[in-house]
Amino acid sequence: MKHLIDIKDLSVEEISNLIEVAKDIINHKEKYSHKCDGKKLATLFFEPSTRTRLSFEAAMLELGGSVIGFSDSSSSSTSKGETVSDTIRVVGGYADIIAMRHPKEGAPLVASMKSIVPIINAGDGGHNHPTQTLTDLLTIECEKGRLNNLTIGLCGDLKFGRTVHSLITAMSRYQGIKFVLISPEELKIPDYIKKEVLEKNNMQWCETKDIEEKLGSLDILYMTRVQKERFFNEADYVRLKDYYILNKEKLEKAKQDLCIMHPLPRVNEISTDVDDDKRACYFKQAEYGKYIRMALILKLLEVK
Ligand code: CP
Repeated sequence: MKHLIDIKDLSVEEISNLIEVAKDIINHKEKYSHKCDGKKLATLFFEPSTRTRLSFEAAMLELGGSVIGFSDSSSSSTSKGETVSDTIRVVGGYADIIAMRHPKEGAPLVASMKSIVPIINAGDGGHNHPTQTLTDLLTIECEKGRLNNLTIGLCGDLKFGRTVHSLITAMSRYQGIKFVLISPEELKIPDYIKKEVLEKNNMQWCETKDIEEKLGSLDILYMTRVQKERFFNEADYVRLKDYYILNKEKLEKAKQDLCIMHPLPRVNEISTDVDDDKRACYFKQAEYGKYIRMALILKLLEVK
């Protein structure tokens, strides 16, 4: 049985297959509408979510399956002190596959060790968010037509941003990738990502605090939110939250075929005047998330 805890659990070939299936789903939705008849997905969300939980649920429903779960751990027996391991053992008797989000890094890995059904990490603390990365890869493939030879700017909270960590890890396996890491000093990419991913794979990368410095060289600009929930100190959050605001004026320096991405939710980091720009891909990106999650559910349930 296979779980998805970290994007590295999937080979480049497996990711490529998932992207092909997702593209086929986009073009032939009716072909897939009964693939999961009789199957159940449980969504166990110990942390808030809109896109990930609802796109997983929509994915299973569009495959003909059904959905159970909770979106607020205070309504589950976790509030009575039940462990993740016990919850997972029980839910495995009710569902065929589980998507789980948890504020503690490593909780989905622990769950996978106890589970009798496939576990999907739907985000664990500031660590990983592999299905967001699959969403991002499908978006890049569909919008840019390739996953290689790209200059990718990642901007905002690169310290706590689990989507950024997973995306750098995934893109480091493709040829001709350059990263421009744009963040304030306090939110720089962690050293372990530099050492274990960027340096280990001999990637080309640079760091800057200035979003405009390299904007003209980027094929992709991946904006991220400064995450209030990861800060220990309110004053630090307030000081950093509006450090970057992408607006129409700044975009005048960017390429005409730039792809602007954001895992969402956004707060102030992309001005709404950018939403109508043809380079804004973040709402399409959220929709791609449903199709890649459909492909992932089919793979993990071994549905042909
Ligand atoms: N991108 C993402 O994970 O969004 P949600 O927190 O709304 O699921």
